[in-house]
Amino acid sequence: MEETTPPDETAETVTETEPKLRPDGGDPQEAIDAQGDRRREGLDDRIFDHNAGDEQDGIPFVGAGPGNPRLLTVAGKELLEAADLVVHAGSLVNSELLDEYCAHAELVNSVGKDLEELIPLMRDAYEDGENVVRLHSGDPAIYGAALEQMDALEHEGVPTYFVPGVTSAFAASATLRTQLTLNEVSNHVAFTRPQGKTLTEEEDHISEFVEMGDVTTCIYLGTHAVRDTMDRLLADDHDPETPVAVIYHASWPDEDVIVGDIGTIADKVEEAGYRASAMVVIGDAVTGAGYERSFLYGDWANRGSNDADEAESD
Ligand SMILES: C[S@@+](CC[C@H](N)C(=O)[O-])C[C@H]1O[C@@H](n2cnc3c(N)ncnc32)[C@H](O)[C@@H]1O
Repeated sequence: MEETTPPDETAETVTETEPKLRPDGGDPQEAIDAQGDRRREGLDDRIFDHNAGDEQDGIPFVGAGPGNPRLLTVAGKELLEAADLVVHAGSLVNSELLDEYCAHAELVNSVGKDLEELIPLMRDAYEDGENVVRLHSGDPAIYGAALEQMDALEHEGVPTYFVPGVTSAFAASATLRTQLTLNEVSNHVAFTRPQGKTLTEEEDHISEFVEMGDVTTCIYLGTHAVRDTMDRLLADDHDPETPVAVIYHASWPDEDVIVGDIGTIADKVEEAGYRASAMVVIGDAVTGAGYERSFLYGDWANRGSNDADEAESD
């Protein structure tokens, strides 16, 4: 079964206001197709006129970060504090963050609402002169379905832009006190999700990422499917001792970390009872063991390099 939000997680401690809907938003798919056609003809001028993080006209699609209000960006905080209407992503946006930064704003939970409701709601508020913020969990560019809302709004003449956030995989790596890329251990990171309602079996590439050996695989939307995922990895002959961590509610007050391996993690997650809201991380980077010092602060430090990218400090 696809991961869904358990009913108890949709409860907000903040007062919700029912949206005042004005229909006639048009067909969102037509709007998405039209925006796609425009993009094929040429990139949006705003790409070259603005930098990420700049103040811009329109409705910002803000990443709330993983949960802890301290992990919201400064730009996100300023926009929320100035907002009249905040349309937020329900249970994965910590109500503490809404209490702290949006006490003055009208709040609408987007869970259970379709584009036909959300687009006129945001458009009308924006056209009435309100400061509207669309708040997504983590970063809106990762499994956020932000672009379709933005395209539908743009099609209606409402400008939009992204304000990035800390994606939950980054909160998970901070919790684990490790890096997702680690010299001689993990050269790549895959952000992925398991098969289910959205992905077919053929579109599920988790086994291929694990097969590569030097990839840290971060699975979103897969808490409910840990058993299935591990069973498939075992059936594909992956080493049962490959490290796996499941980080529930990374950065929240009730954060929980379960550590095991491909052979043991499913039992542990089932015992803990988590079915949603966790990040599953597979690979040797989970333990942070076995890496070697990087070139960056070794031989290269004093020699320089002709390859500017490779010599780039981080
Ligand atoms: C619809 S996706 C949204 C991801 C979000 N845009 C992001 O960048 O983190 C929801 C999934 O993200 C993961 N997730 C979101 N917040 C999390 C957190 N604080 N701790 C662990 N996983 C989280 C879970 O896997 C959850 O099923």
